[in-house]
Amino acid sequence: MKIAVTGANSNVGINFLTEISSNESIQITAGVRSKSAIKLLPESSNIHPTVIDYNDSASLEKGIEGVDCVVHLAGILIEGKHTKYQQANVDATAAVVAAVKTHNLAHLIFISVIGADQNSKNEYFRSKGLAEKAIQDSNLSASILRTPILLGPNTAGGSSLINTARPEKTKLLGGGYYKMRPLDIDDLNTAIINCAEKSLPGCKTYELVGPEAISYRDLVSRVASMQGHAVKIGTIPIGVTKLMAKLTSFIKDGGFTPAVIDVITQDEEVAQNADVELGLNLTSLETTLKKLLEQ
Ligand SMILES: NC(=O)c1ccc[n+]([C@@H]2O[C@H](COP(=O)([O-])OP(=O)(O)OC[C@H]3O[C@@H](n4cnc5c(N)ncnc54)[C@H](OP(=O)(O)O)[C@@H]3O)[C@@H](O)[C@H]2O)c1
Repeated sequence: MKIAVTGANSNVGINFLTEISSNESIQITAGVRSKSAIKLLPESSNIHPTVIDYNDSASLEKGIEGVDCVVHLAGILIEGKHTKYQQANVDATAAVVAAVKTHNLAHLIFISVIGADQNSKNEYFRSKGLAEKAIQDSNLSASILRTPILLGPNTAGGSSLINTARPEKTKLLGGGYYKMRPLDIDDLNTAIINCAEKSLPGCKTYELVGPEAISYRDLVSRVASMQGHAVKIGTIPIGVTKLMAKLTSFIKDGGFTPAVIDVITQDEEVAQNADVELGLNLTSLETTLKKLLEQ
C-alpha cells in the first residue's frame, strides 16, 4: 500500500511515520512545506519526503501521485502571524480534496477534532467543521477521525501534561475541572492504518476517544503521583486569562487566543466511541501515561 501524508513534520505525522518505518509493506510519501522540515522526519527506506505547496495544485498533485490513500494531517490549533485557520485548516483541506479527486485515489483520511462544527462560534472548531464539510461534499471515499487530546512522544498535550505535573504546586485554567478523554497516539496510528486498508466507499465520520474520562485536574495529580510526588492544584481564572489572551494575541497577531482557551477547556464528550468500529483495542490510560513518562 502507498500512502501520502500531508503535514508529515507535525507531531502526529512524525509519530505515524516512526510507527510505519518498520513496516516495509507500506510506502509513505511524506509531504512537508519546506526543505528544512525534511530534516525532522524519521529516515527509512519506505519514507519518501517531498515538498508540497498547498497554493499550487500542480505541486500538490505531483506530491500525491501514485499513492492509494492520503492522510491529511496539516492543520493548526495556534494561529501565527502568517498562518491562520482559514489557510491551514480550510483552504489546505480544500486543496487536498481537489488533488485527491484529480488522481481518483482510493481513500482520504482526515484528522479532525472532537467539537468540530461548521456552525461553531469558536473559530478553530468552525474551521475544522468547514474542512470536514469540504470532504463530505466531495463524494470521495473518506474517513474523518475526530480526536481528543493526543498523548504520545513529543505530542504537545503530552509534553504540557508532564511539565504541569512536575512541580509540587501548579495552577490550572478554571482549576482543571474540564473532562478529557485522552487518546494514545499509537491507537490513532492503528486507526489510520485500518481506515487506509479498508478504504470503505462513501464518507464516514468517526469520533474516537480514549478509554477513560478524567478531569484534567485528576490527570495532572495522577501523573504527579506516578512521578513520585503529590501536587497542589490552584486555579487560574478563565475569564481573566481570556481577556489577557485577547490583548496579547491582538498585539502578536496570533498565539494563545480566547478561542484556544475555549478549545483546551472544553469537555471532550462523544455520543459513541468509534473504537470497536475502527477495529481497535484501546490502550489503557495507565499504560499511555507510563509510556509518556518513560520517553
Ligand atoms: N495534537 C493533538 O492533540 C490533536 C488533537 C486533535 C486533532 N489534531 C489534528 O491533528 C493534526 C496534526 O496535529 P499536530 O498537533 O501534530 O500538528 P502540529 O505539530 O502543530 O503541526 C502542524 C502542521 O500543519 C502544517 N501547517 C501549518 N500551517 C499550514 C498551512 N497554512 N498550510 C498547510 N499546512 C500548514 C505545519 O507545517 P509547517 O511546519 O510547515 O508550518 C505542520 O506540518 C492537525 O490537523 C490537528 O488539528 C491534533
